[in-house]
Amino acid sequence: MSLGINKVCVIGAGLMGHGIAQVFAMNKYGVNLVDISEDILGKALEKIKWSLGKLAEKGVLKEDIATVMSRIKTTVNLLGAVKDVDFVIEAVPERLDLKSKIFAEIDGVAPRHCIFASNTSGLPITLMAEATKRPERVVGMHWFNPPQLMRLIEVIKTKYTSEETTKVVFELSKNLGKTPILVKKDINGFIANRVYRAISTEAFLMYLRGEAQPMEIDAACRYKLKLPLGPFELTDFTGGIDIAVSSRASVEEILRRFPEWEPHKELLEFSNATYGFIKERYDKGLLGVKTGQGFYKYPEPGKWARPDIPEKYAERIDPLEVVAPAINVSAWLIRNDVVSAQDIDVALKLGYNFPMGLLEYADERGLDAVVKVLEAKLTKVKEPYAAIYKPDELLLKMVKEGKLGKKSGQGFYKY
Ligand code: NAI
Repeated sequence: MSLGINKVCVIGAGLMGHGIAQVFAMNKYGVNLVDISEDILGKALEKIKWSLGKLAEKGVLKEDIATVMSRIKTTVNLLGAVKDVDFVIEAVPERLDLKSKIFAEIDGVAPRHCIFASNTSGLPITLMAEATKRPERVVGMHWFNPPQLMRLIEVIKTKYTSEETTKVVFELSKNLGKTPILVKKDINGFIANRVYRAISTEAFLMYLRGEAQPMEIDAACRYKLKLPLGPFELTDFTGGIDIAVSSRASVEEILRRFPEWEPHKELLEFSNATYGFIKERYDKGLLGVKTGQGFYKYPEPGKWARPDIPEKYAERIDPLEVVAPAINVSAWLIRNDVVSAQDIDVALKLGYNFPMGLLEYADERGLDAVVKVLEAKLTKVKEPYAAIYKPDELLLKMVKEGKLGKKSGQGFYKY
């Protein structure tokens, strides 16, 4: 299919934007790369050149570095940069007012057919679309860091995005050598982060309820689920405590303006249940690698070393206890036609390096076992957030129909 996209504009040349521009250039697209100062743009070009050098060393770069670099033009003139492009992606700081303002400004200048994509990870694209007169051509295109290496792209459709726009961005992602998944509704966290967050939330709550120590949960995830890092380790690594606190105010404000952004009320209550704990750690400066101390101690602030977690700590914990709520959240997403089971698994495998998909794991353990774990939590936990443990209708229906997973030949997948 001809996508009609030859020239693109990347707005924001920071951590994500420079990498995104590089991927486009490596795939023969002409790129206008925009930022607010020549100095930042110069540094972005240096980073791109360095990264291309690394790829050339590994033998994965098909052309010479100069040819790829020649496709990238940098400028601080935003309006000039969008006037003859077919596709725009913004990767400016995570502020709704800024992103909306940029889309409103370029709307009058960019060609009528030009698609506007946002790389936001935590803001509603619907509200950005409303700032333009082309809401059907506004879409989410959520990359993962580093864009040069991570294969996952979440393509997010808002209630305004046309089928045509969605299809074009989906195919464009494939042309860039990526693996896109389709997110059919504009919801908080999209898929990979939303489902993973349910895992870390349950990990925190198990700790808060006195059921397990962080090291035991991390050990079970590392040694039994074979995840690269457990949820506490990963929170330390990514600065999850910091991110949760700094995004809190904007989430509340957004929900006032756009309540559909969080249609799963039980999930909201569940996530909110850990906020006091997160805030307390934030106030104590226990931010993880960044401050040298989080759930684990690091050699010095900003320096990561893999925490030493002996395998014996995994003995007592069944990882299904940790991931069952995320399986329930996934069932909710599938039943509400947000995403397919396969795409949830792709999101976790490519976005979080899961060796097997969450729903493949559910099928392997048996959906009856998943329901049993959820029901036990529902009975035991008395707090209001316990509603998240009520097995989703889809899970109950599947179990009733004998679709138990691998052992019955049919679960989320057919065997
Ligand atoms: P960053 O802070 O590294 O880069 C943002 C860039 O935008 C800066 O270079 C800044 O000078 C520039 N900028 C600010 N105002 C501008 C304007 N008016 N016009 C043009 N450029 C402007 O941020 P980062 O990490 O690259 O994030 C960008 C977006 O990507 C955010 O929405 C973030 O949520 C999202 N994202 C970030 C990921 C990450 O791991 N850092 C992963 C996936 C998405």
